Amino acid sequence: MEIKKVVVIGSGTMGSGIAAHLCNANIPVTLLDLKTEISKQARDRIYKSRPPLLLDKSKINNIKVGNISDDFNTVKDADWVVEAVVERIDVKHDIYKKIFKERKNGAIVSSNTSSIPIKVLSQNLSDDEKKDFCITHFFNPVRYMGLLEIVKNENNDLDKINSLKNFCENELGKGAIICNDTPGFLGNRVGVYAMQIAMTEAFKENLSIEEADAIFGRPMGIPKTGVFGLYDLIGIDLMADVLKSFIKELPKTDNFHDVAKEIPLVKKLIETGYTGRKGKGGFYRVNKSDGKKVMEALNLETGEYLPSKKINIKSEKVDLKSLINRNDKYGKYAWSVISKIIKYASSLVPEITKEFNDIDEAMRLGFNWTKGPFEMLEEIGVVNFFNKVEDYKGNNFLENLAKTKDEKFYGERQKYTEIETLGKVKKTAVSVDGNSSAEIYRFKDYNIVEFTTKANALDYDSMDALKKATDKPLIIINESMQFSAGVNLNYTMDFADKNDFKSIEKFIRYFQITCKHLKYSDHPVISAPSGLTLGGGFEVMVQSNFVVSHTNIVVGLVETIVGLIPAGGGCKEMLARWLDTEEAKKNPHYAPLKVFDIIGYAKTATSPVEAEPLKYLKVKDKKIMNRNSLLGVSRKILEENRDFKSPNEKKFNLPGKIVKDEMIKILEKLYNNKLIFDHGIEVGKELANVLSGGDTTIDKTLSEDYLFKLELDSFMRLIKNKKTQERIKYTLATGKPLIN
Ligand code: NAI
Repeated sequence: MEIKKVVVIGSGTMGSGIAAHLCNANIPVTLLDLKTEISKQARDRIYKSRPPLLLDKSKINNIKVGNISDDFNTVKDADWVVEAVVERIDVKHDIYKKIFKERKNGAIVSSNTSSIPIKVLSQNLSDDEKKDFCITHFFNPVRYMGLLEIVKNENNDLDKINSLKNFCENELGKGAIICNDTPGFLGNRVGVYAMQIAMTEAFKENLSIEEADAIFGRPMGIPKTGVFGLYDLIGIDLMADVLKSFIKELPKTDNFHDVAKEIPLVKKLIETGYTGRKGKGGFYRVNKSDGKKVMEALNLETGEYLPSKKINIKSEKVDLKSLINRNDKYGKYAWSVISKIIKYASSLVPEITKEFNDIDEAMRLGFNWTKGPFEMLEEIGVVNFFNKVEDYKGNNFLENLAKTKDEKFYGERQKYTEIETLGKVKKTAVSVDGNSSAEIYRFKDYNIVEFTTKANALDYDSMDALKKATDKPLIIINESMQFSAGVNLNYTMDFADKNDFKSIEKFIRYFQITCKHLKYSDHPVISAPSGLTLGGGFEVMVQSNFVVSHTNIVVGLVETIVGLIPAGGGCKEMLARWLDTEEAKKNPHYAPLKVFDIIGYAKTATSPVEAEPLKYLKVKDKKIMNRNSLLGVSRKILEENRDFKSPNEKKFNLPGKIVKDEMIKILEKLYNNKLIFDHGIEVGKELANVLSGGDTTIDKTLSEDYLFKLELDSFMRLIKNKKTQERIKYTLATGKPLIN
């Protein structure tokens, strides 16, 4: 069964997200709503969305729009009809009647419902119609969330369900997990319970919302929005509806009821319009005081807003064992939340799925957790867990595990897919080396380096791991959200604060040496980025021999924002790429000026389609929709390149002063128009010096080492500059750029 055309009915948040993502997969799609005006507006929203739902905005018109009265005949041609109308059973039933009357024989019809059981959705369908009907539950935002839950009914044509699963996996890049017809399926059943337990325990333990979010967040491998921040993001009113639906659907004996009771403070927030980020604020709000924006947080006891406090729990890494054993209120909170999540999730096996590791994967792909509940249990250790846990009577999974005490209970990972994922490979690979910033695994005849710091920020140790790992063919890849957000600025600023510039210089030199080594070592090096691939992260990628990029990347050289210039080979590589163009062969100023524009403005691309014209990615680099496939595709490249020979060293001819003067003129114009200020000029001049080739003329041939030296010297001058340091400190504290 091939899917060549799709109709999506309902053009709200989810329908438009699904249509956009089908467009990303080059599938012609029609988006229908009650009125064409509504679906047109939805298409405009897709175009303007941030982060963008489209890989390539120029394809927007591949999404056709219409209404369900005049344009319903489009359903006739569709191989798949996705229903994403409001969560009302009467409306959905009406639509199915229309669809099944019109659809092409054998076309798949699915619902995006988040809470209505398939037996209810399909109750009016004939057995023959049921064959082709299922639930396809996407997560918002559809382009970025990896999870797709598929729910079958008892009459389904299984071949068809499998081909739909394959389509969603290969063409749409989703982690498609087939699950049972139970309320909230896997992700929401466990995810919403986890949010509720995190919230109710915070009330119980008298934690402030900032404290709760500081624990139920990064230290647990959970996104930093935590629980209260996530509530605000989703909408406090919407969460209340979700809870009501769970209360209605779940049997009285389900432990969900313990944590789903209405909280008076939450009720009051909704009633007064504090529904979260879309409303007047929620648990957090931005308030204006003396003309300044102040982030405030709600005091759970008094219901008052007070300036939000930064909580430092002094733990950078996810280390569950230490976290739950802390002898303070944070440790107590972490243990009660984690243990209850583990207890609840395990009590649902096999009711919601017989594969417990599908639950972990649902949490990873649907909620961006680093580890699901069962992997958390594995990390804590079975014996440790049972030494601490109380009261799990009637929980078959835990009762059995308590008997076997099998630390290796987990077995395989990611059973829901046949793809050989990094997660699966890591289970059997040998950990050969590593440090606090990166892990080196050996699998068969190649190495894997996985960065392990916060946002995979790079430091000396990250470089050390990369350098050591080039004794075999190497794939640089990771499971966490970001490939690398760049050099660790905290690490750099710690040295700067101590006036220890020697250590910074040593680090940058080592960064350069390592990247050069990646490029020219005897074995091929492949980078397989996903998520943020910025600054130093980009420099690692760009100096690898091959790139296998996920379609969800944010890539670019952003150093100038913090008053620096790329010094790990970023300037050099961008010059090399632009010097290879036809235009550059005709005009020696072309490449330096282009790169000056790209790096000077710290341009970023949010997809490979945007990255190619900037030459952040090459046409020949692989671009992959399914993140799970990055490792397999990389491995194939290694196999195809068994006779790999490292490339010849690149030589450069640059115009020197004559083009530098042109760049300085550009800077002066920006300065005069008040688009940049004093330090902007300084940074720009350093960049101009590097990109023009410094003290050279076009007839002189320059080596890579020479350009590395220019980068290093400029970088060192800038990092010693107080104004660069101010920029870095400001960005570290606020996440925003300082324009000085
Ligand atoms: P929404 O309220 O944003 O959009 C619903 C759209 O359906 C509206 O544009 C409305 O005009 C249209 N509509 C209503 N009746 C219609 C009809 N008879 N024919 C055609 N269009 C009609 O809703 P949202 O959030 O996109 O939800 C859609 C479905 O997806 C629901 O079943 C919901 O439970 C589910 N869902 C929602 C998620 C979310 O995060 N919002 C996540 C996953 C699933």
